[in-house]
Amino acid sequence: MTSAPVHAKGLEGVIADESAICNVEQTALIYRGYEIADLAAHASFEEVAFLLLIGHKPNASELKAFKDELIAERELPEMIKQNLKHAGELVNNKYAVPMDILRTAVSVLGHLDPDCQDNSAEANLRKAKRLLAKIPTVIGHMQNSIEGREFVAPRSDLSHSANLLYMMTGSEPSPEAEKVMDVSLVLYAEHDYNASTFTSRVIASTLGDMHGAVTGAVAALKGKLHGGANEAAMDMLSDIRNDIGPDNDAAKITGWMHKAFAEKRKLMGFGHRVYKNGDHRAPILHALGRKAAEARGEEFVKLFELGEAVQKIMADEKTIYPNVDFPCGMTYFTMGIPVPQYTPIFVASRITGWCAHIMEQHANNRIIRPRVAYIGPALRNWND
Ligand code: SDX
Repeated sequence: MTSAPVHAKGLEGVIADESAICNVEQTALIYRGYEIADLAAHASFEEVAFLLLIGHKPNASELKAFKDELIAERELPEMIKQNLKHAGELVNNKYAVPMDILRTAVSVLGHLDPDCQDNSAEANLRKAKRLLAKIPTVIGHMQNSIEGREFVAPRSDLSHSANLLYMMTGSEPSPEAEKVMDVSLVLYAEHDYNASTFTSRVIASTLGDMHGAVTGAVAALKGKLHGGANEAAMDMLSDIRNDIGPDNDAAKITGWMHKAFAEKRKLMGFGHRVYKNGDHRAPILHALGRKAAEARGEEFVKLFELGEAVQKIMADEKTIYPNVDFPCGMTYFTMGIPVPQYTPIFVASRITGWCAHIMEQHANNRIIRPRVAYIGPALRNWND
């Protein structure tokens, strides 16, 4: 009996293909050659979206044309708007969470996109821009419905990030809030073969269409071991706050953490399959979010101090470091964004990475079909 082949549970360490889009290493995170701290400091989300989807840094006229195309596509088809009028009923009665509503909306956007069944490079790029432009409107209208308010229509005079925040609240964000959102979208945009991107590539590899591949990716990102961790991280900090009271008493925080360790609880927003010395994105967002908290007031500074105390215990006692979702939870909470919209906002950014990967897969495809080591019953007869 030959020994079973060694399998990599969770495909850990497996190089599944080649890609020109992103490189995730301990030493650096790079989008098409540009390092993430460079992009976060100097590029807008629209510029990064163009870079990921089209492959190069846009010049001024390319960027203007790209922005104008996205603005022109922000409005939703009437059928989706009718569907989204029921979002509040579904979410407030706990039949669905916002990530489910968004997943369905992406699927219906496919029915209404004339290019849906066309996997050509030109059609895929058109679809990618429409999805990028429309997903913030889905999130905005969904939140309006959850709050029982009239839909806030997209505005053509606001940036992508400002328009997203405006449609959710009906108020124009401050320049500071717009900047924090924009950097968070840059940081979330792409991350090579993470679970949701790999899901989208598996679907694209069968020659499934872009809307189907994105629908699958949204379903994968919802999980709290993946994108859902930004909501779960904020929920965990709220649990700690509720358990230990309003002061960040060090002994109480340590006690809470030790109880979690004893229960073998996974601390949301910590750890990463690739990064074992820390996620390059986390300190960038943490610094921005803490600045926003200092401007917002004492309660929010104390939230960040609680987060910093948790981070220190995880580092000192487990050598496990925060991933991007940990600072994201505290930052979006400081901005007043409803917790269940954190992962949908992750989608509004990662749609760029997903579509870049779907286009790359369709352009140079081989169906993704790995093997499995069988450990079931030996051969036997049905009539024995
Ligand atoms: C994202 O892949 C990507 O790039 C994803 C992402 C992207 O941009 O697309 O970066 C976004 O999804 C970030 C990850 C968000 N998820 C979480 O924050 C959930 C909590 N994290 C863990 O579930 C875990 O760290 C994962 C899922 C992120 C990584 O899982 P791995 O690589 O399978 O690691 P593991 O679970 O095997 O952990 C190794 C050890 C284990 O100890 P043992 O059980 O072997 O004794 O470290 C421990 C784990 O228990 N550990 C944790 C922990 N993460 C790892 N212990 C407590 N809390 C944690 N968060």
